[in-house]
Amino acid sequence: AQPVIVAIDGPSGTGKSSTSKAVAAQLGLSYLDTGAQYRAITWWMVTNHIDIDDASAIAAVAGKPEIVSGTDPRDPTITVDGVDVAGPIRGQDVTSKVSAVSAVPEVRSRITELQRSIAGSAVTGIVVEGRDIGTTVLPDADLKIFLTASAEARAARRSGELKGADLNTTREALIKRDAADAGRKTSPLAKAGDAVEVDTTELTLQQVIECVVTLVEEKR
Ligand code: C5P
Repeated sequence: AQPVIVAIDGPSGTGKSSTSKAVAAQLGLSYLDTGAQYRAITWWMVTNHIDIDDASAIAAVAGKPEIVSGTDPRDPTITVDGVDVAGPIRGQDVTSKVSAVSAVPEVRSRITELQRSIAGSAVTGIVVEGRDIGTTVLPDADLKIFLTASAEARAARRSGELKGADLNTTREALIKRDAADAGRKTSPLAKAGDAVEVDTTELTLQQVIECVVTLVEEKR
């Protein structure tokens, strides 16, 4: 059978990662978390004291860090220059800076190239999650899903993950990041014309997983 390529996009807190990992594991596909790659390059910029407000400074070094993503949905890994950054990329500091770094075209072009090469070498196929996968990275994907949820539901899920983080603070930060991601010039967060939109507000994670698995099986 031909490898199946699934693109899952949407704003933060819609359940993209949990859904993508579970679908990939269930169907024996590879998995790529593209947000983790943008977080990883942001971590490198912060660690090397690059001024996040200076897009040309970011552009000048965008090609330097070597980012390697492990694509096993049961054990997704991410390293920068050989350093395991899975923990630090989830911190507040990286989270608050990632939108600025990922808006720089030179950052996007090199990460996009990396994503296409990983997707192209997946033997059985791959589930790729992000913001611009269906629109820009893999426009010929076999299936495109766009996950949405109300701001309240998204903030509640995120603060649950962050264990005890204040709901209002989480909600404000999330809305700000989504606005930055949707408003940037280069490949903004957007639903592809041929994507299937799934509103997860009233659905359990299990229901969302089943819905996507069914849609993939229809394509195979
Ligand atoms: O998915 P996650 O919340 O980890 O993504 C972190 C950030 O990476 C997003 O807020 C966005 O700025 C950036 N991103 C992107 N394009 C993608 C995936 C993530 O710009 N395909």
